[in-house]
Amino acid sequence: MADLRVTLSGITLDNPVIPASGTFGYGKEFAEIYDINILGSISFKGTTKDPRLGNPLPRIAECTAGLINSVGLQNPGVEKVCEEELPELRRIFKKPLIANISGFSPEEYEYCARAMDKEEQVGIIEVNVSCPNVHNGGMAYGVLPESAAEITRVVKAATKKPVYIKLSPNVTDIVSIACACEEAGADGLSLINTMLGMRIDIRTRKPVIANRMGGFSGPAIFPVAVRMVNQVYHAVKIPVIGMGGVSKAEDVIEMMMAGASAVQVGAANLVNPYACREIIEELPALMDRLGIERLSDIVGIV
Ligand code: FUM
Repeated sequence: MADLRVTLSGITLDNPVIPASGTFGYGKEFAEIYDINILGSISFKGTTKDPRLGNPLPRIAECTAGLINSVGLQNPGVEKVCEEELPELRRIFKKPLIANISGFSPEEYEYCARAMDKEEQVGIIEVNVSCPNVHNGGMAYGVLPESAAEITRVVKAATKKPVYIKLSPNVTDIVSIACACEEAGADGLSLINTMLGMRIDIRTRKPVIANRMGGFSGPAIFPVAVRMVNQVYHAVKIPVIGMGGVSKAEDVIEMMMAGASAVQVGAANLVNPYACREIIEELPALMDRLGIERLSDIVGIV
């Protein structure tokens, strides 16, 4: 029988499929339509120290083979997340969670990491240094090896949980940033976040997105993600969670062959709310067809 289990920093997941932060909220809406306990884990919506209303509307632009979002890290703030969202999520999802945190200063990252450190169900802290939709913070920390390393050190000092740094593709050399995070103590890496993009409404002659630009995701960016995961996999010794345009079981296999120990599914959840379930259901038959007994055997074979 096909063995879908994978391990991230000592945490064994039933399968590698994880909804990506910002595309699955805190799981509630999805739990109404299927049993979300079939998922490997959930990376819940990016959490900041203070509540955020997010960016002005419109925030979404549809594109060929993807979409641009400029949500702007809308979330109720870390206190409310810990007091209200996580207890609710605990009732409907019984596995370790991935807590995605963001900040506008090292102190804010530290604050969120300390709060998530106290949450028993949080298995991994995923540190977003790559959000393209906010100024001063977000992606700013992720575009240089020094600042990405600084945030890594700050978060590592604030928690005993495994720390994964979520990297931006909007850089010249993702490998140097990945290596700097590893050297600073990161336990793993998540990549890629969205690619900076823009659409223009040719009738109004204005940008479609109120914030002008946003993060492009969806099937169109999959080859870029595979390339970056493969480059980073060969440069570091820590596990990589691969993401970027994954929308079918074949993509999961390809991403793992590139070097991902687990795989996040993002934009596909917005197009088809059953995407993660369908991928998990299709994986065993696909593995049989490809002669794969254990998914963990194919990580980084290319
Ligand atoms: O704007 C957002 O909330 C998206 C965050 C991200 O891509 O990291």
